[in-house]
Parts: sequence; C-alpha cells; structure tokens
Amino acid sequence: MINKIHSLGGYIHEYQKSIANPEAFWTQQAECFFWRKRWDKVFDWNFDEPNIQWFVNGKLNITENIFERNLYTHGNQEAIIWEPNDPNDETRTLTYSELYQEVNKFANTLKRLGVGKGDRVAIYMPMVPELAIAVLACARIGAIHSVVFAGFSANALQERINDATAKVLLTADGGFRGDKITPLKKIADEALESCPTIETVVVLKRTNSEVDMVVGRDIWWHKAIDGQSDTCPAEEMDSEDPLFILYTSGSTGKPKGIVHTTGGYMVYTAYSFSNVFQYHVDDVYFCTADIGWITGHSYIVYGPLLAGAKTLMFEGVPTWPNAGRFWDIVAKHKVNQFYTAPTAIRALLAKGNDFLEEKKLQSLKVLGTVGEPINEEAWHWYHDHVGLNRCPIVDTWWQTETGGIMISPLAGITPTKPSFATLPLPGIQPIIMNGDGKELTGNSVEGNLCIKFPWPGIARTIWNDHQRFKDTYFSTYNKMYFTGDGVKRDEDGYYRILGRVDDVINVSGHRLGTAEIENAINEHPLVNESAVVGYPHAIKGQGIYAFVVCGELSTGGEEGIRKSIMQGVTKIIGPIARPDLVQLVPGLPKTRSGKIMRRILRKVAEGDATNLGDITTLLDEDVVDKIIDGALVDV
Ligand code: WTA
Repeated sequence: MINKIHSLGGYIHEYQKSIANPEAFWTQQAECFFWRKRWDKVFDWNFDEPNIQWFVNGKLNITENIFERNLYTHGNQEAIIWEPNDPNDETRTLTYSELYQEVNKFANTLKRLGVGKGDRVAIYMPMVPELAIAVLACARIGAIHSVVFAGFSANALQERINDATAKVLLTADGGFRGDKITPLKKIADEALESCPTIETVVVLKRTNSEVDMVVGRDIWWHKAIDGQSDTCPAEEMDSEDPLFILYTSGSTGKPKGIVHTTGGYMVYTAYSFSNVFQYHVDDVYFCTADIGWITGHSYIVYGPLLAGAKTLMFEGVPTWPNAGRFWDIVAKHKVNQFYTAPTAIRALLAKGNDFLEEKKLQSLKVLGTVGEPINEEAWHWYHDHVGLNRCPIVDTWWQTETGGIMISPLAGITPTKPSFATLPLPGIQPIIMNGDGKELTGNSVEGNLCIKFPWPGIARTIWNDHQRFKDTYFSTYNKMYFTGDGVKRDEDGYYRILGRVDDVINVSGHRLGTAEIENAINEHPLVNESAVVGYPHAIKGQGIYAFVVCGELSTGGEEGIRKSIMQGVTKIIGPIARPDLVQLVPGLPKTRSGKIMRRILRKVAEGDATNLGDITTLLDEDVVDKIIDGALVDV
C-alpha cells in the first residue's frame, strides 16, 4: 500500500515533515515498494552540474512493483479497462494477472528481436491496450521506451527515432480517432526512409488498413508474439537506470528528449497519484490523456498501476459520435475519478448542457485538470455541471520534466479556489523569483516559478545533451530548477499558474516551441522568415499566430500561400502545430541588433496595440504600423 494523507491537518503535518527531513519522509514512501536491494542513500544532488540521484544504488524493476507486488491481492482485479473508439465495439478489460501475462509475452518477443537492457524502443501507436503492454514490456526487460504521440508527422517521428537511436519501432496499421483513421504504418514508413538504427518494425493490426510490409524488417504483432512464453523474469535495474525518454518542446527548434529514471519516478508517480486523486480500492479512474504525453505515462500507466488501481484507457475523442461521449463512458464504467484538460472542458462547455445527464454522472467523486491554466468559467461549469456541485476539482500543475504532479489540491482535503493549483505536494519546495534573480518572499507576489530542492520524479537529463539540460533549467537562477512558468502566490499562499514566460506556447494543453513552428514555416519555398506567438483562443487556451514574410506571392495569391503554409506545418510537425492565423507582413519588428521583438507581436496578436512599451530600439517603426493595419484580430 502507498501512504495516504486523509485530512488537511495530515497534509500540513506531512508537508512539514518532508521539508524538515526529506530523507526520512522519502524513505517512508520508498519503503512501500519492493526493492531487490535497498538504497544506500536516499538522495544525492546538486543543481549546478546538475547531478540528481534518488535511492542511490537501489535495485528494482518497476514492473515487479506493478505485478508481483500486487498479484496476491489484486490478481483478478481489472488493471486496464479499455474503451474503444466506436461505442458499439466491445470494451476490453485486462486483470492484473492477464496484463502481467501479456506484458511478459511481449517482453519475450522484444528479447527475441534482440532488444536488451538500455536499448531504445520507439513506440508510435494508437490508444489501445497493446500500447500500455509495450511500455511495460520495455520496462520489464530494461529497454528504454520512447513513445511518440500518434498525431505527430513522419518528420517528427523520424527526428525522435534518430535522436534516441532506437533499435525497434512498434506501430500499428492505423489508429481510429472519431470518424477518422490515422495511417500510422504509412507515416512510419515515410519516417523510416532515413532511420538507420531501426532493425525491426512490429505492426499491430488495428484498423485493417492496407499496409506495405518490408520483408526482413516488418513483422506483424500477432505473429511476433505467437508462441512466446507468458513468464519473463524482470531485469534488475538500478534506481538511476533510465526508464524512458519522452520528447517535449522547448524554446529552441529541436525537441528535447527528457529522461526519467526508474526508482524515483516510481515512488513519485505512485505517491502523487494516490494522494492527489485519493484513489480507493475498487474505484474506477479515467484519465483522458494520450499515453504519448507525460500525463498518460504517469497517470494512465505507471502511477495508477503501481497503486493497484483500475485505470480506464480511451481510444477515441471527446466529441465523437457526440459531445456526450465522456459522460457515456463515465456512466458505463461508473467512473469515480475523472482527469482531463481544460481545452476539452471548454470544447464540451461550448456544446451546451444537453449532453450532461445527471444520472450518468452520479458515480463521480473527483475531477481533475491538467496541462494549461483553467479559466474560471470552465472551472465553474466543470464543478457545477459535471461534478454536480459535489466533486472537488484537483487543478494539477506539473510538467514533462517534473515526472509527476507538483502543485495541486489533494481531492476533498485541500480547500479549492477556481483556477488555483493551490498548494505544493509534500516534498515540493516552490519559490518565486523576479527577473533580477531575487526571491519574492511572502504572499501576494507574482514572478517566475522555480523549485529549490529536488524531488524523486524530477528529470535527470536531456538524452544526449546534458549541457542543454543544465542551460534550460538550471542556469536562469542559481541552484534552482526553473520551470518556465509564471506564477502568483495570493494572500492565502495559494499558487495560481499564469502560463509560460518563455517561447513555449500551450495549445489545447500541448506544448509547442515557437521556434519549432517557425522552422517548419520557413521550409516553405516562398517564405523568407517568420515569427510565431500565442494568442488567446476560446477553446484551445492559446492559438497559434504566425507573422510571415514572403519574398513574392505565388499564383494562388495570399490565401493560397496561407493555406500551403498551414499544410506545410501539419506535414512537418503534425496537425497540433498548424497555425490558426497566418498574417503576411512586409517585415518583422526587429531591434538594431536584429532580434525580433516578440513582445510587440504578442501584443498585436492579443488585439492590443495601445501599449507596445518601449519601441525606441526598433530598426523600422513603420513595419509595426503595417503589421497592425493588416492584423487578423481586432486591434
Ligand atoms: C502548463 C503537462 C496551468 C505549464 C503535465 C507547464 C499548467 C506545461 C497546468 C507543461 C495547470 C500544466 N495549470 N498550467 N494545472 N499543468 N500546465 O510538459 O505551462 O506537456 O509548464 O506537461 O503545461 O506541459 P507538459
């Protein structure tokens, strides 16, 4: 069992303990798990290099903690409840024992394909149980999984495979999403045209789409697992052996391969899951994220399964066949904890309340949100109409790099406040810094959010680029992890996340680097240069506004160029990065030293050109007037 807090007093007590004596606090949490060999030291760290280690020299396997540790008590209980895209298709459930066997079978398959400890396995799959099985099979044998969201393009997949030098790719013939089919194998084939390290591709049959199988490289999943034994001894891992790589966007063009290791990630995801959601035995927990993102890793797969929970996995989209789909699933499986993103809440809110039937929502006890700031309107709608005024909302702030939830209410324990992530979890020490590197103490302050002490779930490095890890997170402020988020601490000491303060935008809860999108736009043959900023968007939270300078116009005219720029970005990164607005401009506002003044573009995109701030360093003020004149939003 994982230690759980039951009251506000309990939270305060545990929090204080975790700060006063982190060794003792985390020892207590880690002792809930099965270690082949106990750690010598709870942690060892400095934020200079940075070098962060947890449960030093401990030996374990995370899947042994999901399966062997739970089988006696939970063997026949559902582990994964899978709801297919089409509501008329059958639900699939896997008990802990069944999942264990499937994981072992696939682990043996990977071994037979020559995958061993430390090898990288790229996974590009739809939201089907085999995706979770694949992830856990890698962990079973100590291979490092790198899941790439199945909405990414061939280019994006190729870049990630090559950065991780993956040996095997796991994919499917296609993936269902609403009334569409994503041709995953076809996209993968395109990516693999230039992925020299991939030796084998395992292809799951899901959509029965026609695919080309490359002889000697490609193998069907069902054939590959055929005859494999359903027992597979777990590989002994060091606490600090990498568990997975997950790519995320940063402020430069190239995605960062965030590396999480085994021991700390295990302890942190299980502890935070149990406490934030207040999961009780037999509850059904439903997180609507995709396993291609960190939320899916930590709170569909690892956290819940380590806690012995029933985790519901959904293949489809919230609005198909209609905007009542989530609530149908909640009713069908009597979901108790429901965890989604503000963008989904806003999209459903916009469809009205007809899809919300009280009787369908009775089982809900806890609602959660993640990925972006939640506006008050969405919070209240979620609270009043989905939660029927009786479910606490846990607004969970965290990041790919933090591994697990950092600032959040504990459900039913921490008093909530709309659009506030409230208070840090035990072990988390937030600190607010101003632009000059000074700490802002006390309440009613606003600045940049940093964390001054390590926690077990923190990322350890960027794959193949430790320097970038240091530069990105540990160089802005001395001896502190810098999150890239702005934050306010109000008069009650509650935290409200204000959004990114760097060149990262958050579109529908997906993190995108503006430079990444600009690079994609600049590949268009007619584009000279571009600048991308976020702007407020009613459903997506932030939309993508691109200012583009073209050398000449093609025969399609402005409209034609705009369209082809949008298509280009979809092709190079994926539909999530497609600009909402493309404004063709005669030039970009630049300083004399050639730096783009994004502040000005952000203001224009926000529809507010009244207060552009200091523009005396601008090379050409005329350009700004022209940009304002041609703006695609009301300025
Ligand atoms: C944003 C997702 C406000 C934030 C788990 C962060 C949030 C980025 C919240 C990380 C929240 C996440 N309130 N903003 N509750 N949760 N964010 O890596 O800007 O995909 O830095 O991890 O999402 O996004 P990522």
